[in-house]
Order: sequence, then C-alpha cells, then structure tokens
Amino acid sequence: MKITNQHTALNRELFGPGFEWGVSTAAFQIEGAHDIDGKGESVWDNFTARKGKILNADHALTACDFYNRYEEDIDLIKKLNIPNFRFSISWTRLLPNGTGEINQAGIDYYNRVIDYCLKQDVTPWVTIYHWDLPQVLEQKGGWANREVITWFSEFTTLCVKSFGDRVKHWMVMNEPVVFTGAGYFFGIHAPGRSGLRSFTSVIHHVVLSIVAGARILRELLPADAQIGTTFSCSQVEPLTDKPRDIAAAVRVDALINRLYIEPILGMGYPVKDLPALKGIQKYILPGDEENMHFDFDFIGVQNYTREIVKYSFFTPYVSARIIKAENRRVELTAMRWEVHPPSIYHMIKKFAAYPKIKNIIITENGSAFPDEVADGEVNDPKRLQYLQDYLAQVLKAKNEGCNVNGYFVWTLTDNFEWAEGYHPRFGLIHVDHNTQKRIVKMSGKWFAEFLKKEVKQEELTLEAKSKM
Ligand code: NOJ
Repeated sequence: MKITNQHTALNRELFGPGFEWGVSTAAFQIEGAHDIDGKGESVWDNFTARKGKILNADHALTACDFYNRYEEDIDLIKKLNIPNFRFSISWTRLLPNGTGEINQAGIDYYNRVIDYCLKQDVTPWVTIYHWDLPQVLEQKGGWANREVITWFSEFTTLCVKSFGDRVKHWMVMNEPVVFTGAGYFFGIHAPGRSGLRSFTSVIHHVVLSIVAGARILRELLPADAQIGTTFSCSQVEPLTDKPRDIAAAVRVDALINRLYIEPILGMGYPVKDLPALKGIQKYILPGDEENMHFDFDFIGVQNYTREIVKYSFFTPYVSARIIKAENRRVELTAMRWEVHPPSIYHMIKKFAAYPKIKNIIITENGSAFPDEVADGEVNDPKRLQYLQDYLAQVLKAKNEGCNVNGYFVWTLTDNFEWAEGYHPRFGLIHVDHNTQKRIVKMSGKWFAEFLKKEVKQEELTLEAKSKM
C-alpha cells in the first residue's frame, strides 16, 4: 500500500518543536466493561438501553474493550509515534453513586492506564467529563439541578487527588454545547430531555461547573500543570448575503460557537445576538458573575465541518435553519458532515482573536468514512486526504501568527459514536467489533510516518557516547 502525502510540503517540523501531537478518545466510547469492578450506571448506559435511541440498537457494553486492552492500544499509540494520548475518566467508575462512596477498583484501573502510558513514554491528557453523568444524579435533576456544581466538584477533586501526581495536562469538560444541546434540548443524546426550560438552567450550571472544576485543578495541581477545557465549533456562513440570512447566521454562531466560551472568558452570555437565551438571567444568582470565568492555560478547539444557515420563520428560538450538507452537493463524511478544510482555519482565527485565550490546542479533528478491510489492510484515502488538508489549514493559521500549538486526531480506534452507534468509523485504527481485532489504517500509517522524528546527527553522537 502506497502512502501518499498530498501536501508534500507538509511535515512535522513546520509546526515547530513545541507543537503537541496526539490522539483523542473518551471513556464511554472505548472502554466497555460497563458494569465491571463496581462501576455504576451512567446516563449513557441508561440511554443506550432505551429502545430506538441508538442507530441499529448498538450499545457500548463492550465498545472497544479498552478496559481490558489498554496495553495493546497504548502500545499502538507508541508504535504510531503519537506522543500524547487524550482520554476521559468515567465518573461512575470512581463514584458509582455519583458522590460519596469511592470505588477503589475504578481508581486502580486509571492508575494502570496512566502508569502504562508513562512507561511507554506516552503523555496522558485527561478529560474529566466527557458526557457520562451518573444516572443517579440525572434522577436528581442532572445538569438542571444547581447542586451539580457540588457533585462535579467532588468528582473533580477525586480525579486530581488520585492522578494529579502524574497527569500534567487536564481538560475539565468536553464540548458543552453538544452534550447540553443534544442531551437537554433536542433529546437525541443522553439523558434525552428536550425543550428550552431545562436547557437554559443546564447551560448556566455547566458554566459554573467548568469554572469550579478549573479552580480546583489550579488549587490542587503543581504550578507546571496545564489546565484547559474543550469546545466544539463550526464555521457558520449565511446562505445568501440577504440581511435576514446574515442575521440568522449570527444567531446560530452565537448558539454553537460562542455560548460557553464567552462567559468563561468573562464576556457574559451572547444574549444580545441570541435573545432566546434571555431566560438564563433568572438562573444567575447574586455572586455568580464572579464564578463564571477562568483564565485557562489552553483552550481545546474541536472542529470537523462548517454550517450554512438561512433565515426560517418556522424554527423556534433561532429563526434559522441549517441547510443540510447532503442538499448542497459537497463532499460528505459518513456523519453527513461537509468536508471543508478552511473551517478549521476560520475557527482558529476566531478563537485566537479573543484577547484572553493564551494557547489553542486542536483537541479533536478527524473524519468517518465507510472503510473496508481488503487483504488484511484498510486503505482509507479519503481520511488521509482529510487529515492532510485540515492540517495544512492549521499550519496556515499558525503561520499567520495564531497561537495554535497542538493537534489531536479524533480518534485512535473506530468506536461507539453516540446515537450513531458503530456505523461511523473515525479511527486511525480499524476495529472489527465482533473480534476486537485492530488493523492500522493507511491514514494511521501516514500519521506515524509524519510524526517520525528524524534522529539528528548530534543525538546519534550522544547515543553512541552513552554506549561507550
Ligand atoms: C465530538 C466528541 O467529543 C466525540 O465524542 C465524538 O465522537 C466526535 N466529536 C465525533 O463526532
């Protein structure tokens, strides 16, 4: 199989020596072992068991069996020359009841994962919350209950006290817009609630929890720790230059790109550009404004696609409609998302323009395509092209002076893609979900090649000397 580099000029060195390269995952999507060693039920365990919620009735009881195969998968990360591995902690493995009693077996498991990473010279980057709230806490109102700030703080404290001696890179939460929007407004993700009422309270509680979590990290971690949190984002463009389409695009942009980052930067909610949010005011209690912002060491930017928007009288709250990519005659991924590399450039520019963001790490970017195994190999030219084209755009932004200093591929192995089940394959490594057999795809081999550091002459000399 021939590995092609479409951008022959693209190489690791161009991004500079301090640029962080990695691969991202999330506990629920890979671990499996859903009820092993004392783990409690999460909202996603509960949601996937409900009829009609997940495509093809897929579930994540075993997922990629990372719980048992973490050594094999970390070995693969090392083999692919990937220096950083991002994964999340399952709240109910540590605290099966959400709060209170600690499950030592859960802590032991993450200790094994972290220690194995370090042994293999792979740096662990930990996300504290990647969407798997304990079901017992959902029954008490979940993110709509203001008490969640205390519950989340307890979980965060436990994570830092257990792993903070070895983990230096932390992300408080993953993509708040997606888990709150899909989970509490559209009802298509766990916990499956819909409507504006719980959504507005949820937004505010999530903002306060992100800040509370970040402050705990700052207080308990050594000074050299890097504290971040991640946001999804998509370039939003109006369908036409008619003023009402442009105004519709501004509202959608406020909702999907600005809703969480702006309060956290101390700018407040973008209510002016999205008046439907004004109901949030009643959840903001005296003193909250002080607790809504944090000076993060880095912001994780996660981008996959762009959205084209037009005015719509019939759509409540936003009066805007997203024109589906499949109706726009553009290249699509298996998620039916448009392949549009300039989107990542545009979003880096947008985030870099916020004066308070010190450092941007692309904590996710990648694509799903219908890969097939042939003669024991997986040839995935579309993913390869996608990664190279998006990376070229990251480099363009960097060369124009944006403070972007890292890039993590989503994802290591084909895994459980939430409501879409196993059908979209995002991995650099193909997984046969019946046998758990892993095959490094062509894109994975290319990434390994791309990341391979040339051994410099002086290093060789040093090595030779040390053997003398
Ligand atoms: C966003 C999420 O963080 C991750 O869980 C998901 O699988 C990917 N992007 C792809 O949709």
